[in-house]
Amino acid sequence: MAFSSEFRTKTMKNFPYTLLPVTEKSSKESTRTTKTILSIITTLFLVILLSCSIFIIMALWLGPQTPVVKLNSLSVTNFTVSNTKLAANWVATFTVYNPSLAMKLSLDNIVSAVLFKENNALAIASVEGFGMDSRGENRVQMEFSTTGYEGDQPIVEYPVLREIEEDNKRRGTVRFSMIMNMRTTYKSAGYNWVAWTRRFVMNSYCLDLNVGVVKGNGSFIGGGSRQCEVILMLADDHE
Ligand SMILES: *[C@@H]1O[C@H](CO)[C@@H](O)[C@H](O)[C@H]1NC(C)=O
Ligand SMILES: *[C@@H]1O[C@H](CO)[C@@H](O)[C@H](O)[C@H]1NC(C)=O
Repeated sequence: MAFSSEFRTKTMKNFPYTLLPVTEKSSKESTRTTKTILSIITTLFLVILLSCSIFIIMALWLGPQTPVVKLNSLSVTNFTVSNTKLAANWVATFTVYNPSLAMKLSLDNIVSAVLFKENNALAIASVEGFGMDSRGENRVQMEFSTTGYEGDQPIVEYPVLREIEEDNKRRGTVRFSMIMNMRTTYKSAGYNWVAWTRRFVMNSYCLDLNVGVVKGNGSFIGGGSRQCEVILMLADDHE
């Protein structure tokens, strides 16, 4: 037995929610379908347009992505500690990677220090700056040298000298850290219609580097490379 449309409508009035009328003409339905498809296409188009705009805006204005710094190796030679001074040479190699899709960057005024643990500077070195393309990678080598007497190297105080010796005797390793400070300039790459420059101060921290020192020589224990922490701060001087 088929329900009459009147019976249906009446029945449906009892429902607490509204349903679409069942007796619409088919031509109206197809118009509705076309409208729905059109609105879906329009929505999709708008969503894509919006996403692209957001991506470009993010990439250019908000997204100078922090460079990735990895320590590949650290070795020390002629490491000698006495009650009055510390003398040693360090060689560290790093890989710096620029993950930005839309930005080139240059790193300048690079100053690096080797520390005992996290806060006792043992030696300082500066390195030539360099530029990087978007998604570019650079290898950097840093050499530190101190005889304990140079005026441009940190003075290591007796308590620290003693702690280094004790650590080395007890564990056969010395725990170093390396920090780097530099100026970082981001420039929009390949988008000549929006010239964009931002300057940052960048600090990189590579902590907990245990170096096994035997007869004054040694290298970073654990092998492989170590990712360093990188912090970017907007520099005061804008262009
Ligand atoms: C380390 O010391 C040895 C002798 O004690 C010397 O021949 C060598 O040149 C020194 N190496 C460095 C890198 O200073
Ligand atoms: C430590 O390394 C230096 C430089 O490579 C070398 O001249 C020296 O003979 C080494 N010392 C020892 C004890 O192996």
